[in-house]
Amino acid sequence: MGVIASAPGKVILFGEHFVVYGEPAIVLAIDKRAYAKVEESDGKDLHIHSTNLDLAGSFKNGAFKIEQGDAKEARIKFEPVKHVVEKVLEKHGENTGLTVEINSTVPVGAGLGSSAAVAAAVTLAVAEALDVKLSKEDIFRITYEAEKTVHGTPSGVDPAIATFGGTLLFQMDTGFKPLDVRMEIPLVVGDTGVERSTKALVEKVRNTAEKYPQIVDPIRRAAREIVLRAIDALKKNDLETLGELMNMNHALLYGVGVSDESLEWLINAARKAGALGSKLTGAGGGGCMIALAKDERLEQVMEAIQRAGGRPFVARKTDEGVRIERT
Ligand code: PMV
Repeated sequence: MGVIASAPGKVILFGEHFVVYGEPAIVLAIDKRAYAKVEESDGKDLHIHSTNLDLAGSFKNGAFKIEQGDAKEARIKFEPVKHVVEKVLEKHGENTGLTVEINSTVPVGAGLGSSAAVAAAVTLAVAEALDVKLSKEDIFRITYEAEKTVHGTPSGVDPAIATFGGTLLFQMDTGFKPLDVRMEIPLVVGDTGVERSTKALVEKVRNTAEKYPQIVDPIRRAAREIVLRAIDALKKNDLETLGELMNMNHALLYGVGVSDESLEWLINAARKAGALGSKLTGAGGGGCMIALAKDERLEQVMEAIQRAGGRPFVARKTDEGVRIERT
């Protein structure tokens, strides 16, 4: 049978890039989840199978053996999984064989936090299977450490949202603060399918900020003001204002050079189809955009994004962080 746990992906609603310079950002857990099924097995091997990536392999005494798909890719994708399993086994106090089956509905490599969602789901499923008691704080810490093996120095937003769910206000010096958001936030996410490197885009903004400090500093302050007003709009259930703020936030991101043609096509198509607002989400340079739309417009916005060459899906806020689906 096995234990199944799941954890959500995320979108950054406001504040990406400027968050690197100490400004606040608003991050939302979405109802696309990664699922992990875990069973104890004979021996000491860790067997991992990702159904959505068509990859499988085993770790035996530290050595990796490929069973399905590209060995290099599998090694990279499974490294954080191995990391979290080892952490839970340490707490368990005894090594045991495990089979981990991963199935993620969060698009991979699109800035939607899929690797953190997988790591959080695996952590909880393994803990439950071995009867190891972990708090959410523990799961966050283990997942964050695993993310560091993939991303170097991540802000910690992805593991936090995968673990706790909901809406988080994040700032470098103060960390995470949950925002009590009651309103529905109907979004269409459009994946450009264009691969990008978060690191390279953060670097690009840094170069621009260094070259034009008198221009970029006011842009950064404007981004902060947008986040503050967005918090207010979220409290007041004010979708129209949120949409306007998204458009303005996108203009600032465009200004610092992180939009690209693929994103502009989708963002403009969404606006023309009646979205209240639309912007890139995450690092930009490809990856994903989001559009805010009233429920009755979601279908049209999806179609417009599809026609413009993107892969759209509806995403709604979820308050549910990492959770057990079946014991
Ligand atoms: O697209 P993602 O999920 O890698 O988001 C990057 C967000 C940035 O603000 C651009 C970088 C960061 O570390 O916060």
